[in-house]
Amino acid sequence: MSIEALEKAIEIVGGQSALGRLIDRDQKAIWAWINTTQKVPAEDVLKIEAAVDGKVNRYELRPDVYPKPTPMDKMRVVGGVKLNGNIKISGAKNAALKHMCASLLTDEPFILENMPVSLRDVAMLSQILEPLGVDITADKETAIVKLHAKEIKSHIAPYEFVRKMRASILVLGPLLARHHKAEVSLPGGCALGARPVDLHLKGLEAMGAMINLEGGYVKATAPDGGLKGADINFPLVSVGATENLMMAATLAKGETVLRNAAREPEIVDQGEALIKMGAKIEGLGTSEIRITGVKKLHGTTHSVIPDRIETGTYMCAVGLCGGELRLQNTRLDFLSALIAPLKEAGMIIEQEGDDIVVKRNQAKIKGVDIMTEAYPGLATDLQAQFMTMLTLCDGAGMISETIFENRFMHVPELVRMGANITVKGNSAIIRGVDGLKGAQVMATDLRASVAMVLAGLVAEGETIINRIYHLDRGYENIVEKLTAVGAQIERIK
Ligand code: UD1
Repeated sequence: MSIEALEKAIEIVGGQSALGRLIDRDQKAIWAWINTTQKVPAEDVLKIEAAVDGKVNRYELRPDVYPKPTPMDKMRVVGGVKLNGNIKISGAKNAALKHMCASLLTDEPFILENMPVSLRDVAMLSQILEPLGVDITADKETAIVKLHAKEIKSHIAPYEFVRKMRASILVLGPLLARHHKAEVSLPGGCALGARPVDLHLKGLEAMGAMINLEGGYVKATAPDGGLKGADINFPLVSVGATENLMMAATLAKGETVLRNAAREPEIVDQGEALIKMGAKIEGLGTSEIRITGVKKLHGTTHSVIPDRIETGTYMCAVGLCGGELRLQNTRLDFLSALIAPLKEAGMIIEQEGDDIVVKRNQAKIKGVDIMTEAYPGLATDLQAQFMTMLTLCDGAGMISETIFENRFMHVPELVRMGANITVKGNSAIIRGVDGLKGAQVMATDLRASVAMVLAGLVAEGETIINRIYHLDRGYENIVEKLTAVGAQIERIK
């Protein structure tokens, strides 16, 4: 915590007791924040911010938890350079967030290494976890995050935070399992069509939970004695539901079987961390996961797997711009379904130790067809980037999106930049054009936003990407990483 920021807030409102009255806290609490190592709790940080009209912001009060506010909300990219050099891949966002939620399962410290600490999603989830009782310290230098939920202080995850990030529904399973009750707002997140959480809720009900939907909240209680093991057969493969129920099952009574479970590397990573914490889990990476509940989980240290989506994004960037990138600290085996069509398109991709070297030698890649599927199929989170790469292909390619409805939001923007794309239902045909032209563009989800960056990297002239909020949710240091390999990219007001 920054004591100077707190002192500034006290000065603005006219004294310590005035601040106390405004945020409904006694003097003793404020004294402790100033004179001891005790941090201002998240809910008080927000009250202080409101009391001083934002003149002291949450980041100044708790820089270890809240992201740095960026008044700059646009990105400017000037296209036309080949990408050459090294990019260090961050820890996987979609594994990191689930691990953070798993910290609720134990009263001992859970230490995560290789964390994408500067991602907005990580900061946002911290804002949800802290009021629940998780003490969080994040170190950007070492990429280590320590989470310690000594006791559960609240069971409510409020709308204000949950609406911004769908993954926050993943506090539901752990809270119910350890604390036997939870109230979680129904989530928001990327605008990818209707994204229900019915599978999460049905699974928890099968484990004995009582669930009511009231005022936009999921209100859930476990039966006396806690959740019970259940045999759950998912009608469709869901990453989030598999994770939520796997976490819940670790502390349930008896055995839980998850059939038609998702097999994503992030789920395997989460399961492996849970096993280190004392959970009994078999079948990770297969579609049948068996979990035998234990009484208690303990703390552990775990290193987050590399981000396969970030890796794949930079591979597509090479396919589009040309050049040669060494993607450091990442894994090719997570990306088989992407590598095959990239190689077919004419790219050269090799694993060298912990690095992947990717290059495009010829002038253009060839048009290829892809279809998104649950893992080990091609990730829907790489579809927008692959499509952007195909805009300049030799011939044409077809993309079928089978996971999410409404995931072609990047198409009109790419067309505005000169791409030739026709959408029919859940398929798009991309006919290669000679070049893209820079434009003002906007994107409404994370992967569509990065697709705009890729398009800008190859387009003639200047591309201004508005509303880069989503990019900061999921791509760590993207400006710095791309600048280091030759791109002309900057944040602007
Ligand atoms: C996760 C990833 C996201 C990725 C997606 C698919 C995180 C934080 N996000 O999202 O980046 O795009 O997997 O790989 O890890 N569904 C239901 N009912 C449910 C749950 C899901 O009908 O209760 C549907 C969804 O609407 C969607 C499909 O199942 O059509 C797959 O969704 P799911 O795998 O659950 O995605 P997320 O876990 O939300």
